[in-house]
Order: sequence, then C-alpha cells, then structure tokens
Amino acid sequence: MSETEVTTAPRPLLLTDGRPAARAWSLDPALKHLNHGSFGAVPLVAQERQELLRVEMERSPVVWFPALPQRIAATRVQLAAFLHVTADGLALVPNASAGASVVYAALSRRRGGEIVVTDHGYGAVTMGAERLARRWGGRVRTARVPLDADEDQAYEAVVAEIGQATDLVVVDQITSATARRMPVERIGAEARRRGIPVLVDGAHAPGLLAAPLADATYDFWVGNLHKWGCAPRGTAALVARGPLRDRLHPLIDSWGAADPYPDRFDQQGTIDATAYLAAPTALDFVDRTWGWPTARRYMNDMADYGAHVIGTAFAELTGTDCRVDVGLPVPGMRLVRLPEGLAPSRVEADALRDRVARELGVEAAFTSFGGTGYLRLSAHVYNTSADYEYFAEECVPALGEWARTAHEQHRAP
Ligand SMILES: Cc1ncc(COP(=O)(O)O)c(C=O)c1O
Repeated sequence: MSETEVTTAPRPLLLTDGRPAARAWSLDPALKHLNHGSFGAVPLVAQERQELLRVEMERSPVVWFPALPQRIAATRVQLAAFLHVTADGLALVPNASAGASVVYAALSRRRGGEIVVTDHGYGAVTMGAERLARRWGGRVRTARVPLDADEDQAYEAVVAEIGQATDLVVVDQITSATARRMPVERIGAEARRRGIPVLVDGAHAPGLLAAPLADATYDFWVGNLHKWGCAPRGTAALVARGPLRDRLHPLIDSWGAADPYPDRFDQQGTIDATAYLAAPTALDFVDRTWGWPTARRYMNDMADYGAHVIGTAFAELTGTDCRVDVGLPVPGMRLVRLPEGLAPSRVEADALRDRVARELGVEAAFTSFGGTGYLRLSAHVYNTSADYEYFAEECVPALGEWARTAHEQHRAP
C-alpha cells in the first residue's frame, strides 16, 4: 500500500507508432502476465539484437571469441552509466545468485564465522550463506523483521544480530517475497563501521530505482538487469568497492585470472555472452520510447491500481481488508493478502502459481511470509488496467473457492 493509493486506471503507455506497449514484447497474448519481477521479459528489439550477435558469433567463432573481452568491457561502461556507477567497480555475472556466489567464494572467516541475514532474504542467496557459514564452522543468524517494520525497526532488528562473531552481513535492498525495501544504507554503514563486509542483494533494484546504488552502503552489491531492465537473461551486475574487491574472481577460472578486478570477469572460458552485449539495447529501448522516469511512474501507478482493484475484490469476497502495509514500499511491486488457507508456505505458493497459470491463464507470483500467503504484483510498461481487472473478475472468485476447499480439507477428520 503506498501513501497515495492510485484508484483510477492509469492511461496505457503506447509505442511511438501508437500501438500498445505489449506489442514490443513476444509475451503470449492468450495469457495475462502479472509477474514481471520473477524472470523479467525481453522486448523484441533486444531479442533481435541478441540473435544478430549470435549469427555474428556463429559466422566466425575464431574472430568472435578473442575479441569478446573488449566488447564486454565496452558494454560494462554502458551498463555502469545506467546504474550511475563507474565501470571500474562493475563486473558482469550471469545473475544475482552468481554474484552472491562470487562474494561467498572470496571471503574468509576472521571472527566467529557468523553471517547475518534477514527472514526476508531470497532463499537461494540465504542457502548460499548457510553453506558458507557451515564451511566456516560458524552459523547464520537470522534477523526477524516484521513485515510492516519502518526504517528504524528494520535497522534495529538487523543490527541486533551483528556481534563480535559476525563475518558478513547479507541484506536485500528490495525483498522478493515481501516486496519491501530494507534500510541498506544505515545497515551497511553500521556494519562497515564495525569492519564487517556487507553484501547488498539488489536483484530487483536496476530499472526499478533511478540510482540503485546511491542509497546503499556496501562492499558488494548485486543487481539483475534481466528483471526490471528487461535485458536478455542472464545479465547481472556485481559492483564492489574497497580492498576486498581485489579478492573477487569469476566462478569460472579463466585466462583473465591475472587481470585486475573487474577486467578478469570479462573472460569466462567459452560461453555465450550475447545476453550481456544485447543488454544495452533493452535499456535504450525503454529510454527512447518513454524515458525511464515515465516508465517507472507508470509501473508504480499500475501496481498500485492493480492492488486496489484486486484487494477490493478479495475484500468483497472475504469481508476482510486485504491491503498490506509493508513498512517501506517499493515502486512497481505490491502485495495483496490472500484468503486464509492459500499459499501458507513457499512450496504451496509455488504450486498455486502453477495452478493459476494452468487453469486460469494468468502468470502471477504468489509468496508466503510468516505463514500467510500473498499475491505479489509487479507491473511493467506492457501491463494495462485490464490485466488487473481480469484478475479481479476471473481469478479472485476462483481463488476464494480454492481457499474454501483448502479450509474444508484442513478441517476434515
Ligand atoms: C532478492 C533476490 N535475490 C536474488 C534473486 C535471484 O536472481 P537470479 O535468479 O537472477 O539469480 C532474486 C530473484 O528473484 C531476488 O528476488
């Protein structure tokens, strides 16, 4: 829920030739796509650019591969400009998970081997932290941050877990299951003041925030360009600063190993790096067509409108308020509380996602936090108010029915 809830349908964004924005994507028109946030969606121009690059690679691999590091380095400069950072701190990695793995592989235990994470952390990144803590003979300490925690409460909850034994703090800039911000600037500043490295998981930040690293204090930051930036998958940035960055190596050892950070990431054995090279085409497309500030405002208003329409439909069905206060909201993403019995765990939330896609023709994200299930909306420029109105009219009654069935099964002896 944002402070100024949008209750009227935003006017759809159009392409420069007047066609609906969705025509610039290859998303199946027979489905509704309400979950840009999980895997992104690549505009046709960027798909075509990647395909051209692949053709070039296949025509002359022996020319292509030796020249690749230089092309990746040039691409880094463009992507760094989008993120408002300097290219000498930015390495390209396939995805945010890989970026976290690179950081985990580089650090060593100096104190008690404890890693501080939060209960909003992305599962795969947290599992990596758990594995590292086990290797160190330490453990993960999980800060419990209430869903509606404000900045001070979230900060206090995380800092309370940092102690003499802490060797690393991992905190999300924008959380996945709960679509909220964490005060990464203050948490990072406190950890760094105590000499503890900080990894900020900014997977959702590029594209969603105008200058994603401006309000983060970090030693390491990872962010996906294939989510809100619409770059071909997998394209992600790892940004590092301070003395520890020289310890970072790509997950794949390569001939670039002797090069300094981040140049050594420009070589990764023989891989298809066309996604990296085509990423600027996606960013430029949104920029040239609408401008990122307009796109961001639209995404935010659309998510707000969607939450209003769907939340109202659920409220009418269940008689309870389904709006959710996430404490520090993010642009473009909203949560709507599901009727009791739906998605009480991550496994059930994933099963619900699959069933809704299969039976109702809607790609949506369902998440679970603290035993409660949520619909997580994430809107992009190709979404229109009709998407959310469809969900409210067609999916909400079905979900209400499924919740009733789940409830009855639960009560059956
Ligand atoms: C907060 C967060 N971290 C990490 C990831 C992992 O991203 P990827 O699968 O691209 O590695 C995600 C993906 O949704 C995420 O939301």
